[in-house]
Amino acid sequence: MTYQVILPAAGQGKRMGAGRNKLLLELNGVPVLIHTLKVFDEDEGCSGIILAIHPHDEKEFKALLKKYHIKKVMNLVRGGEERQHSIYNALKTVNTNDIILVHDAARPFIRKEQIHRLAETAEETGAAIIGVPAKDTMKKVQDGVIVETVERSSLWAVQTPQAFRISLLRKAYEKAEADHFLGTDDASLVERLNMPVAIVEGDYDNIKLTTPEDLYFAEAILKKREK
Ligand code: CTP
Ligand code: MG
Repeated sequence: MTYQVILPAAGQGKRMGAGRNKLLLELNGVPVLIHTLKVFDEDEGCSGIILAIHPHDEKEFKALLKKYHIKKVMNLVRGGEERQHSIYNALKTVNTNDIILVHDAARPFIRKEQIHRLAETAEETGAAIIGVPAKDTMKKVQDGVIVETVERSSLWAVQTPQAFRISLLRKAYEKAEADHFLGTDDASLVERLNMPVAIVEGDYDNIKLTTPEDLYFAEAILKKREK
């Protein structure tokens, strides 16, 4: 089984508040972007990486790819206004029948075993994503008042990677564009085609670096993995 991966990396990291793309922040002296790229670069199942970047970051990202000897980046594409636009730009350059994965560059702790389980599931079903069962009690709230306690056993927090047959993902993105639909993940676009999306149970430590406190969690995860 082989797959190609689209890594959206063209955000601005506003919620991190570092004054630059959060992917350039370092964990153990290595930029977050490189931590994520290495997982795929070193995975024998990965046949190519398409990286969506912001023009501001182009020079610095290119220098990092060179410095860390990242070999599998086939295309560097220009990011768009929203994550979905960045991924669509990348998707337009994909030329393969392999399973295609979409993975946030801001999730550096994804494990190879999980990637393989996910890609194999997508090969069988057409679409599969990684997620974890919700741990907290969840309430639906409106104007500061609880409307409903949603039954937790049916709720999952979803992550990336998300994996698809290329033809299905293309169709989903084309429909979203035609309908001006903006989703917060890729599966939501496929769901709009009324196609089933399988969920593979992942790890709680596959966190996305979003706000400053996530950096503390990231340091702790790295320390534990080094043991
Ligand atoms: N991303 C992208 N293009 C955009 C916006 C986001 O490629 N227009 C990427 C980010 O670089 C990140 C991933 O999508 O790897 C998930 O997005 P998010 O965590 O929201 O990152 P940012 O958009 O950078 O952060 P913020 O929303 O706080 O500005
Ligand atoms: Mg964002």
